[in-house]
Amino acid sequence: MGSVGFRDVARRFPGLVGQAVRLGWAASPRDTVATIALNLASGVFAGYALFATTGVLGALFAGGPTPQRVRAALPSLILVAVSSAARSGLQSAAGWAQGRLEPQVDREVEIRLVGLTTSVELAAFDDSDFHDGLERARNRGMNSAAQVVNNVINCLTSTTGLMSAAIVIGVLQPILLAVLLAAQAPGAWAAVRAARIRYLTRFALIDSYRRKWILSHLMVDRETAAELRSFTMRTFLLDRLSRLAAYARDAEMRAAGRQAATRVTASAMSGIATAGVYAALGGMLVGGWLPLSVAGTAVLAIRQAGASLSQLLYAVNQCYEEGLYFSDYVSFCEDAQSRVRPAGQAPMPRGFDRIEASGLSFSYPAADALALDDVSIEIGRGEIVALVGENGSGKTTLAKILAGLYRPSAGSVTWDGIPIFDVDAEPLREQVAVIAQDHANWPLSVRHNITMGRALDAGLLAFAVSSSGADVVVDGLARGFDTLLARQFKDGAELSGGQWQRIAAARAFYRTAPLLIMDEPTAALDARAEHALFSSLRRHAETRSVVIITHRLASVRQADRIYVLAHGKVVESGRHPELMALGGQYAELYGLQASQYEP
Ligand SMILES: Nc1ncnc2c1ncn2[C@@H]1O[C@H](COP(=O)(O)OP(=O)(O)OP(=O)(O)O)[C@@H](O)[C@H]1O
Ligand SMILES: [Mg+2]
Repeated sequence: MGSVGFRDVARRFPGLVGQAVRLGWAASPRDTVATIALNLASGVFAGYALFATTGVLGALFAGGPTPQRVRAALPSLILVAVSSAARSGLQSAAGWAQGRLEPQVDREVEIRLVGLTTSVELAAFDDSDFHDGLERARNRGMNSAAQVVNNVINCLTSTTGLMSAAIVIGVLQPILLAVLLAAQAPGAWAAVRAARIRYLTRFALIDSYRRKWILSHLMVDRETAAELRSFTMRTFLLDRLSRLAAYARDAEMRAAGRQAATRVTASAMSGIATAGVYAALGGMLVGGWLPLSVAGTAVLAIRQAGASLSQLLYAVNQCYEEGLYFSDYVSFCEDAQSRVRPAGQAPMPRGFDRIEASGLSFSYPAADALALDDVSIEIGRGEIVALVGENGSGKTTLAKILAGLYRPSAGSVTWDGIPIFDVDAEPLREQVAVIAQDHANWPLSVRHNITMGRALDAGLLAFAVSSSGADVVVDGLARGFDTLLARQFKDGAELSGGQWQRIAAARAFYRTAPLLIMDEPTAALDARAEHALFSSLRRHAETRSVVIITHRLASVRQADRIYVLAHGKVVESGRHPELMALGGQYAELYGLQASQYEP
């Protein structure tokens, strides 16, 4: 960006205008057309008013008694008044249309960004480039869209004002036009330079802004409030925050100094240039090249042109500056679009007899090691399949691939021979129910936390809460299913960790899907709830297949097959007695747990 100069601005500008018009059009074709048309019409009347002024001045400066001259000027004066009024009226109407356009553009860009972000593949969220882009697009880029549209329109407004004045001056005396344009060059230079300084400063500071933002967010967040106090981290964090803030402050202050110097230079040069314009005008008058009435109109036109030109420069400058941020938004949208899973070719099967995962390998973006390395498993209809292994062995990763959330870098997952990554994502996910290890606690009502956007089915809801133990939780809440689970809002309730986990389980049971995946569904549950949940596994397996991930090995003894993972590989598999007989890792882990209960 350091090499961005005036020519680059000029080159980028048409593209920016195109994007702004397209965006305005997408948000509201009617208001976009109205804004542009009304602005152009008002420019026409501005020019007309200037021309009529020459008539007024010509009549006033003619010879004869004053009342007669005033009478002669009257028709032109009425023309000036009418066209000025028309111009003001049209400008107000254009301002109204422009004011309506802005919120519509805001909504359009926000919906587009969130719409795209929610449809990208999950793996994007493990990619720091994606986060950087998202942060830039959301924090500044999104807000700049309406500014770009606004400023493109302001450019148009000031250009019509300028054009009308320039045409009038050009018709009256062409030489004056060249002088006038030369007078505005220093302002243009200063505007572009100041914008560049500002953008470069922000660009250099973006990383430190992000750190500062994350840190200050953590310091005022409810989730971290308790730990911040119990670990007495206040001074430590405040110190870091103030150092980051000081760094940004100093850089911004240096930039402000350089911008001021640029502006002073530009003002001095503009002053000299303006003096030159008036000197030229005086010279022409003295030399008799210009009648007095034309000189009077020229002064008015020069003032109008000067005002329009500085407006135009300001708008171009804003366009350029906001355009730099807006291009962050545009490039994020392009990047996100390329990360959206393409539409599937094969139709999604309803249910399955056998799911086969073969030769699965997967590594997270920017990670060196494979999280999964040539893993093959199978799941039959109505089976309970357990995945066990030490922390970081790849169980959650495998579960997410089975759920169609991550695409493996090698290998395939098939439902009765149909590869699931060849079908559309949504119909596949409709057929998988997941209790995630890191399930989200949605700030919604209990009911919505369980139905998760699906239509309400009272019978199913009752089944889901009773089989997950969430019924007890709901009974304890003053407003039952209607209780808002967000303490930060009025009348909101908060649940304990285990209570939340029961809600997460109910959420999965509410989905009538042929594949149920439970990733550590009992980590936060008390002994009674844990026992109840594991005892209900067989019942769930009557209607669907269950994949269960847990460290409580006693509860996977009933599984039809157990896969033991280590360092991303399946190292053992079989039923509980077979694995115990094998005397490998499973037997060792099982023995360790069992020994804790021995006297
Ligand atoms: N989002 C991620 N980005 C990068 N690496 C990850 C990510 N999630 C997990 N990993 C890495 O992948 C490996 C497998 O992680 P995974 O979550 O599948 O383990 P796990 O068997 O579920 O462990 P646990 O028993 O602790 O839940 C680990 O080495 C982990 O560091
Ligand atoms: Mg896990």
